[in-house]
This record gives sequence, structure tokens and C-alpha cells, in this order.
Amino acid sequence: MEHELLRIRDEALAALDACHDDDGLEALRLRFLGRKGELTGVLRGIGELQPEQRRKIGEIANQVKTLVEERMTALRTQWQAEQRARSLAAERIDITIPGNHRPCGSLHPLHQVLDDTIAIFTAMGFEVVRGPDIEDDYHNFAALNIPADHPAREMQDTFFVGPEVVLRTHTSPVQIRTMESRQPPLQIIVPGSVYRVDDDVTHSPMFMQLEGLMVGSDICFAHLKGVLTSFVHAMYGPNTPVRLRPSYFPFTEPSAELDIGCVICGGRKTGCAVCKGSGWMEILGSGMVHPNVFRAVGYDPEKVSGFAFGLGIDRIAMLRYGIDDIRLLYESDLRFLRQF
Ligand code: PHE
Repeated sequence: MEHELLRIRDEALAALDACHDDDGLEALRLRFLGRKGELTGVLRGIGELQPEQRRKIGEIANQVKTLVEERMTALRTQWQAEQRARSLAAERIDITIPGNHRPCGSLHPLHQVLDDTIAIFTAMGFEVVRGPDIEDDYHNFAALNIPADHPAREMQDTFFVGPEVVLRTHTSPVQIRTMESRQPPLQIIVPGSVYRVDDDVTHSPMFMQLEGLMVGSDICFAHLKGVLTSFVHAMYGPNTPVRLRPSYFPFTEPSAELDIGCVICGGRKTGCAVCKGSGWMEILGSGMVHPNVFRAVGYDPEKVSGFAFGLGIDRIAMLRYGIDDIRLLYESDLRFLRQF
């Protein structure tokens, strides 16, 4: 019996040496260790032996069984490791190959300028308010002290949507809407698109304005000048020259346009094409709110005062980036937009 066990051991080990796959391994397991296997067969006859012999043979049989099992496990582990190494080699990724370029968009230059402008004014305590692009005659004109025969109402300036309904020609109607629904003090800015029948290098039928309005009990022209000068210095640098030039708007009195020293030529005596040799560039209209505007919204002009301004965002962007044609801002030409 002992011989028989050793023969099984040698045969099993030799067969395992020649075995190269899972199916073969399973066949060998059944052949030697299975319920009808050779080793099991030998062990079945062990009961007929003397106790002394039985222990000895039992011990050898267990050793053989353990040995064969261990060898099988070792083979399986070895094959798994080899398989893993093979697939790692096959699926190897070259991390040094350059990746696929994914084009990434960016904010439109107008929106970059708008965001910066809003940030400067909100830092000074202004609150952002919005209003409708389609306006009625009353808010766009009448309440702003623009009488029915005012040239600004003429067809060539205004897009009419219907009788008494227009595309707003400025953001000033939001002054009216805000004052109608609230009491002073007020400190608001109103960014938004505005529309005029106009189309050339410096005019687009749709462009962007930012309105400002500050109303309280003691607001004077010095506040207007202080706020607007602070804005210019924050936007274009603290050494940028500022000048207020008398002007006219129906809804402000007195009125002024604000010029800054040309950011292209630095206000040199000789000037440049952008400032047309003047050394100055206009960026906004402003003034003290007209008493008739306060009356229209039910404020008492004896008790409140305020200033307003309207700033061309397109103009600010053109000056900041040296863009010489406003239409570039609205053509969605990627060759242009990618530069920002
Ligand atoms: N609404 C004026 C315009 O569009 C600008 C402006 C606003 C002027 C507020 C004075 C006060 O030209």
C-alpha cells in the first residue's frame, strides 16, 4: 500500500508537471483526489489494516494528498500571475502620447467688460436691477421728460414694435420702473441691451448700456463726479485724465458727458485716429435727475435729488481692447473672439 501511495504521488507530480491549463488540472484533480480518484481508492482499503499500519499508511496518504493539493494551488497561482502579466503588457497605455485637444470657450469680451464694470459699481454700493427690452412709449420717452415732438422719437432712431411699443433705445426707462416701485434712497445700476436704427463702424443696431441712478436727500453734482471718476480710475488706471463736458439730455439738468484721456495715444498733443486728434474720448452721458422725472414717478423734487448716467459698454470694450469696429463684437467670428 505504501508503494502504491508513492507511485500515485510520483505519477500525480509528473502529470502536473506536464499540465498547462485549467481543464487539464481539473481532470488530474478528479483522477487523483476525486471521490472516485486513485488516492481515495487506496484510502478506502485502509480500514482493513492493523491499527499500527493504519496510522502509518494514513499519515503517508495525508502527506501525498497535501503535497498534490499544494502543487495544484501553486500551479493555479502561477498561471494567474502569468495571465495578469500578459494582459498588463497587452493593455499597456503610453502616457507620454499627447492627449486630444478639447477647444475651450471663454467669455465674450463684452461680458468681460460688463462683469468688471458691474464689480466696480457694486463695490461702491450700487445694486443691479434689470428691466424689459420691449418698452412702452411712456417709460422709454414720456416719463423721461422726452416730449412727443422730441427728435429722439423719430422713426429713424427707434425700432417700433407696435403703436406706443418700442425696443428700448436706452436703459433709462429702468430708472422710471425702479422709482415707480420703490422709495428713495436708491443706488442702482442697470445693465442691458438697447436698440437704435443705426449701423456703421461705431454704431450697432443693438448695443449694450449700463445705466446708473443714485437718489437721496442730499445728492449733488460732486457725488456724480466722485462716483464716475472712481469708476474711470478703477477701469483704466488711477492716472487716467477725466473731464466733464456740458451736454444736454431731456431727463437730466444740468447734463454732462464724461471724457477720458485717450487710452490709445495717452492724450498726446498730436492725438491718434481713435480720438480723432483730440486726445479725449467720450464714454458716457450723465446729469442731475430732472425735476419732471421725479414728478412723473411721484417723488417730490423739493425733497429728493439724484444723479444718473448711461455708459456704453461697447465703447468701454473697444477702448480697452483697441477694437476699431463695433460690429466685430456682434458677428460671432471665432477668429476675432478667440483673441480674448
Ligand atoms: N440715456 C442716455 C443715452 O442713451 C444716457 C444717459 C443716461 C444720460 C442717464 C444721462 C443720464 O444716451
